[in-house]
Amino acid sequence: MQVPGNALEGKNVVVIGGTSGIGLATAMTAAGLGARVTAGGRSEEHLEKARQQAGSDIQFVQIDTHDDQGLEKLFSSIGGIDHLVSAATGGSRTLKPLVEQSEEEFQAAFGKLWGYAKVARLGAKHVADDGSITFVSGAPARKFRPNMGALSCVGGAVENLVRCLAKELAPVRVNVVSPGIIDTALFDWMGDEKSERVAQMTKGQLIPRIGRPEEVASALIYLMQNGYATGTTVDVDGGQLLG
Ligand SMILES: NC(=O)c1ccc[n+]([C@@H]2O[C@H](COP(=O)([O-])OP(=O)(O)OC[C@H]3O[C@@H](n4cnc5c(N)ncnc54)[C@H](OP(=O)(O)O)[C@@H]3O)[C@@H](O)[C@H]2O)c1
Repeated sequence: MQVPGNALEGKNVVVIGGTSGIGLATAMTAAGLGARVTAGGRSEEHLEKARQQAGSDIQFVQIDTHDDQGLEKLFSSIGGIDHLVSAATGGSRTLKPLVEQSEEEFQAAFGKLWGYAKVARLGAKHVADDGSITFVSGAPARKFRPNMGALSCVGGAVENLVRCLAKELAPVRVNVVSPGIIDTALFDWMGDEKSERVAQMTKGQLIPRIGRPEEVASALIYLMQNGYATGTTVDVDGGQLLG
């Protein structure tokens, strides 16, 4: 039996935050399935590395999720979007007890939410009725740990944003993928201690290892392809929520 689903062949896929990690893996997987992919991020360094990794299959553009004019210009230039993804970090990862955070630190974490809201606000009118919008939250949205309160608040807000958008933008489908601990540049700051720290962080999970960006990308691709999935959250976290 053939699995029903929307083929990505020839579809216009846009991935904001698509020059590294989960976004880049999503862009490359979509391109591999025949989609016409435009992927973007802010830094020339990430753009250049991504170009080298992905080759000419993907059109890479410089874009900031907080830049209204840039996003408007990008979306208009594509001429109809089938699937719009934002995996952009867009804000700070403020890791501190909530009561020790300054107002500025707490607000800075929400840069991710403002960025996603902007992508939806400016992008929705360009997305085909049978298309989709997909964002990325994170396990802290529903797994609460000391020092991670800002990430939990932002992740929860992203997941609620998605449910609200799914109602308001139907029939365009709007979904979110929630990754656990995934091997991306997000943990580069750990330097030589990365493998030890990651082992510590993942040891309570049902699958006690770090995840791969491609494993999260496959969930993003599923949400593009499955024409009946909307308002949903797909967890790809090695069972962290149950750990
Ligand atoms: N890795 C994990 O363990 C994990 C866990 C939970 C949730 N997440 C979420 O997954 C998403 C992807 O993260 P990742 O791990 O793949 O991180 P990553 O490897 O650092 O990739 C982040 C991407 O977003 C881009 N970006 C950041 N700020 C941007 C902005 N303002 N405008 C446009 N692009 C921007 C980056 O490029 P530039 O910096 O050059 O702009 C890069 O392409 C994020 O939302 C993150 O919060 C990740």
